[in-house]
Amino acid sequence: MTTPEVTVPRFIRACRRQPVDATPVWFMRQAGRYMPEYRALRQNYTLLQLCRTPDLATEVTLQPIQRIELDAAIIFSDLLLPLEPMGIPFDFVKGEGPAIETPLRTEADIDRTRMFEPREALGYVLQAIRQVKAALPAEIPLIGFAGAPFTLASYAIEGGHSNNFALTKTLMYQHPAAWHRLCEKLSTIVGDYLVAQIEAGVDVVQVFDSWVGALNSADYREFVLPHTQRIFAAVAGRVPTIHFGTATGSILRDMRDAGGDVVGADWRIPIDEAWTRIGTDRGIQGNLDPTLLFGPTDRLAAAAEDILARVAGRPGHIFNLGHGILPGTPVEHVQYLAQLVHRHVIA
Ligand code: CP3
Repeated sequence: MTTPEVTVPRFIRACRRQPVDATPVWFMRQAGRYMPEYRALRQNYTLLQLCRTPDLATEVTLQPIQRIELDAAIIFSDLLLPLEPMGIPFDFVKGEGPAIETPLRTEADIDRTRMFEPREALGYVLQAIRQVKAALPAEIPLIGFAGAPFTLASYAIEGGHSNNFALTKTLMYQHPAAWHRLCEKLSTIVGDYLVAQIEAGVDVVQVFDSWVGALNSADYREFVLPHTQRIFAAVAGRVPTIHFGTATGSILRDMRDAGGDVVGADWRIPIDEAWTRIGTDRGIQGNLDPTLLFGPTDRLAAAAEDILARVAGRPGHIFNLGHGILPGTPVEHVQYLAQLVHRHVIA
């Protein structure tokens, strides 16, 4: 007698570029301020309290799953959490985003940062992962994540968000050896942290290099690629991997070379052209402009259909936005988009 084959979720099948019954869909920032149940919890807890309390992080992770037809959950956490145990404390300031207390500005600042054991310092994220896995249905995989060196370094150096990354890039150009030492630390920590997330139960990992589109191809290859490559090498062969950035049209090929079974693209480039640049021997994730979720719904539907038409049924597409859901987005439009993607008949 043969053992019946356990059904592999369509999200995992797409990561492996296998055919699917419907295009899998999830949304970056699918848990968050656009949901009334999230805002209700935020009345009583800060963002960091939500991240550091496994019961609350579990609850928030599951909120969108209960309301929207999603093919994956993403652990509720934040990209910046590893900075604190490195000796770079920060907070979230209302209306302004993250604020690093003492940004890294000199070689001495960089050399003062510490390595740490993620199983201890970030044990609360791993505990939340275990709790979410116990609660999620088997057909919904859980995504773990961490930041890539450029994006993490940019927060540590700028002290918050930046429009031009002038301090980050100046440090990189003026003190290349110190830059590489910082990125070696970050990539070692992130690789280890992702392995710990996999051990705790995540089914897929996504590496966010949200701001790396600020670099050209030559600088990406010199200053970023070897470090991001080290992260993908650390998790190789364990679970499927996704490599995401925005404004990366001119460096998609370089990002692919750094790693990722699936590479993300934002809305600035047509998805078929992005896939050609990445190479069709990898999967692709994307790439609707999140602003379209405000409506009108006929324009939203046309843009989503255009993405699906350009993909033309080629295995390996995960539908997502080009970046995270924006605060104020109507939940009904997110529900509508997920249904539309699922109902699209794959040619
Ligand atoms: O649903 C999910 O996608 C999981 C949760 C998640 C959060 N942050 C929670 C969060 C994820 C995947 C992140 C990643 C993250 N955090 C990134 C990379 C992804 C991206 O959007 O490019 C970055 C750059 C950060 C750093 C960060 N955290 C910023 C710049 C901000 C402030 C900007 C903003 O949106 O307010 C945050 C805050 C943050 N992280 C919120 C959430 C839900 C807003 C929460 C709140 O104030 O309640």
